[in-house]
Amino acid sequence: METTGQVIRCKAAVAWVPGKPLSIEEVEVAPPKTHEVRVKIISTSVCHTDWENLYDAGKGMMSRPFPLVLGHEGAGVVESVGPGVTGFTAGDKVIPLFLPYCGECERCQSVKTNHCRKNWEKAQRGVMADGTSRISCQGQQVHQFLGVSTFSQYTVVSDVSLTKIRSDAPLDKVCLLGCGVSTGYGAALNAGKVEKDSSCAVFGLGAVGLAAVMGCKAAMAKRIIGIDINPKKFEKAKVFGATDCINPADYPQPIQEVVVEMTRGGVDYALECVGRTNVMSAALESTRDAWGTCVIAGWTETEDMKVQVTKILMGRTLKGTYFGGWKSVPDVPKLVDDYMNNKLLLEEFITHNVPLEQINVAFDLLKGGESIRTVISLCDPEDDDATQNKGLLFKQ
Ligand SMILES: NC(=O)c1ccc[n+]([C@@H]2O[C@H](COP(=O)([O-])OP(=O)(O)OC[C@H]3O[C@@H](n4cnc5c(N)ncnc54)[C@H](O)[C@@H]3O)[C@@H](O)[C@H]2O)c1
Ligand SMILES: [Zn+2]
Ligand SMILES: [Zn+2]
Repeated sequence: METTGQVIRCKAAVAWVPGKPLSIEEVEVAPPKTHEVRVKIISTSVCHTDWENLYDAGKGMMSRPFPLVLGHEGAGVVESVGPGVTGFTAGDKVIPLFLPYCGECERCQSVKTNHCRKNWEKAQRGVMADGTSRISCQGQQVHQFLGVSTFSQYTVVSDVSLTKIRSDAPLDKVCLLGCGVSTGYGAALNAGKVEKDSSCAVFGLGAVGLAAVMGCKAAMAKRIIGIDINPKKFEKAKVFGATDCINPADYPQPIQEVVVEMTRGGVDYALECVGRTNVMSAALESTRDAWGTCVIAGWTETEDMKVQVTKILMGRTLKGTYFGGWKSVPDVPKLVDDYMNNKLLLEEFITHNVPLEQINVAFDLLKGGESIRTVISLCDPEDDDATQNKGLLFKQ
């Protein structure tokens, strides 16, 4: 491979400081070290968690080190592998994973969880297993978000944070399976274990919430109530399977009371896909006495949620989910298969497509409630052959 072992100079969207738009820069991406893989990213999308980590750092989210290359919902092609890597070769289509799967630890061996902690603490600090990042810009180390950083034409990831997918998968669609869609879909199927003929309420109808609606439908729930303060989301929610859509702003009473009334006692399953603690409490309170289950998929790292103890005492279950409960490496290729076999929708989540240069537009569209997912093209999708590298710069 022409570029193997060399530093690659390419474009990336760099977050220099929290609270400011991303800046398109020329970065240097070092070759992969032991048990690392360098990936050419073809497509990525922006998840709400990227927005939060840029614009809500130190508030709803803990502060991560800057400068930083964000992005954790991407798909690409292996460019080269480091020593000790056995599962990947140049040209493989892959999805980087913010949740690792080492396959060996107690958690990977358990059916009870998907929370592998390999390299965890380092990934949270934006560095690889050796304590450094592979991306630099203007001579400065740039941190890698959750050990992935898909807002770069090339990135380096650990071989436990990457999964190989089928060669006919369209990368500009399956990139969505790197986070939001998998999370919401699994929140219903794996965490909630939604049952046939049950009633469900999904709070928040962004990509995570719509995927939760899709999961409830796949589980053959009878009633799926979509709840959002932005009624523009309702049309899409019906496409994914919502039977009713309601806007909390249309009612004088709290939304949980509306849901309890609509369902004569509460829903069997409530899924919170917003990331606000008041919505989390409302979701719990909208579930049915005795067996209601509330799953939290929305994210906050700094706040506490109010729980009425009697709600739990009366038999409800409150649980959270990380990446929808999927074991990342083995399960994501199966989700890709489900998409290819028309069992799972992906195109329907994509409302916009922009080139890397317009990545800040994708952030604005998400925050403004205009988009579900914007797919960003980083490299030519026709140019899946990692030997081509058209339009990129290489250090001699
Ligand atoms: N658990 C995980 O592993 C995981 C993975 C991905 C994303 N997330 C989190 O999931 C959440 C949703 O992500 P997304 O990308 O779908 O975001 P998004 O911004 O696309 O969607 C959020 C939706 O919530 C709606 N909303 C806001 N306030 C509301 C309220 N009070 N009541 C009802 N609806 C309200 C918005 O109008 C929007 O439609 C975020 O908190 C994100 O950080 C968690
Ligand atoms: Zn995400
Ligand atoms: Zn593990």
